[in-house]
Amino acid sequence: MLKDKTIVLGVTGGIAVYKAADIVSRLKKLNANVEVIMTEGATEFVSPLTFQTLSNNVVHRKMFNEITSYDVEHISLAQKAALILIAPATANTIGKIASGIADNLLTTVVMASTSKVVFAPAMNTKMYQNPIVQANMEKLKKLGYEFIKPAKGLLACGDYGEGKMAEPVDIVEYVISSFIDKDLKGKKIVVTAGPTIEPLDPVRYMTNHSSGKMGYCIAKEAADRGAEVVLISGPTYLEPPKGVKHVRVNTTEDMFEEVGKYFDTCDVLVKSAAPADYRPETVSNTKIKKNKDTDELNIKYVKNPDIAAHYGKMKNNQIMVGFAAETENLLQYASKKLKEKNFDFIVANDVSKEGAGFNVDTNIVTIIDNKGETTNYPIMDKAQVARIILDKVKYLLEDKG
Ligand code: PMT
Repeated sequence: MLKDKTIVLGVTGGIAVYKAADIVSRLKKLNANVEVIMTEGATEFVSPLTFQTLSNNVVHRKMFNEITSYDVEHISLAQKAALILIAPATANTIGKIASGIADNLLTTVVMASTSKVVFAPAMNTKMYQNPIVQANMEKLKKLGYEFIKPAKGLLACGDYGEGKMAEPVDIVEYVISSFIDKDLKGKKIVVTAGPTIEPLDPVRYMTNHSSGKMGYCIAKEAADRGAEVVLISGPTYLEPPKGVKHVRVNTTEDMFEEVGKYFDTCDVLVKSAAPADYRPETVSNTKIKKNKDTDELNIKYVKNPDIAAHYGKMKNNQIMVGFAAETENLLQYASKKLKEKNFDFIVANDVSKEGAGFNVDTNIVTIIDNKGETTNYPIMDKAQVARIILDKVKYLLEDKG
């Protein structure tokens, strides 16, 4: 994912230095070339050997050493950097850069570079909240420098509060998303995901196997590409992607209502959820007891609203993407749903196939559009399927002008 990209990682002196080792390891797994610059303070916490071993590169430390062992590769760090990440970033380094001070290798490289610079601050809460530090960060933000907000938590100094460096996984996600083209910026995309649940009584409900993975991947991809995303999701165990508005629902009727709140103003509606088509006609207020006299339990079900069909009738300029989960006659049934629900295109998945459909990380899809074009795709990660869907959405949006 980060192949051929050089990430210059500036490591400054704070206890969170140990977490920077994890950042290097994650970036390397994504095939980035990682050049680590450590300040003197950072080397007090973790040995440069750790970073050298993880990055497979010599760790850069002293400005004047760099010059004596003159090597174009080394002194051109500023030019080589596709992105400079400073993690952890201390108040001291933030302050120096904000004041134009370049008195060590890291601050000099930042000063000499035109690449994006991202800070992941880590410090004691009182330091973080200090008006001088806040003013320095504001000044840098206005100049285009970016910050990954620290979390609240128990800090190494024993205080509880803001100042804990963001987790390496989130920092690396931020780096990845920095390289993604924001080609959906300005677009509002509503994604439905997951199952719905229909209660029978206070302890039982009916549902299906949808994990939400497909829909959450679409929401994440759309947000990474700059769209404003509303994710309307039935119950799942998934963490909503960063930067999306997450609306949690239970029943199909709830989902129907929530979609209605956002439909008029959205550009795109992606219906990847698996809403229950039926619900029990009555919901008992008390637990349904076992009946000794019969082996049967008869429950009458009534139809739920068909969300896609309803909003498909109301659509004016919106692009609507549907899904079809089938176990037989995939193309025939999917084409029927495409027309009946007025989708622009439908993503058909045969959920009986291994590696496709419910509760797996991959999917095998066929996309059918309303012009009759059908494209089959091999098995791929749901994240990749999401990319393909949103590429198609992007072309349709461009067509609409
Ligand atoms: O969540 P995962 O575990 O990752 O699994 C992904 C998935 C299998 C749920 C997903 O890929 C998928 O196929 N979603 C659609 C499931 C479904 O309900 O399919 P359907 O063929 O029954 O419905 C057709 C379309 O109408 C779908 O876009 C559905 O969201 C929509 N629908 C269905 C019923 C209903 N009452 N209202 C609707 O809007």
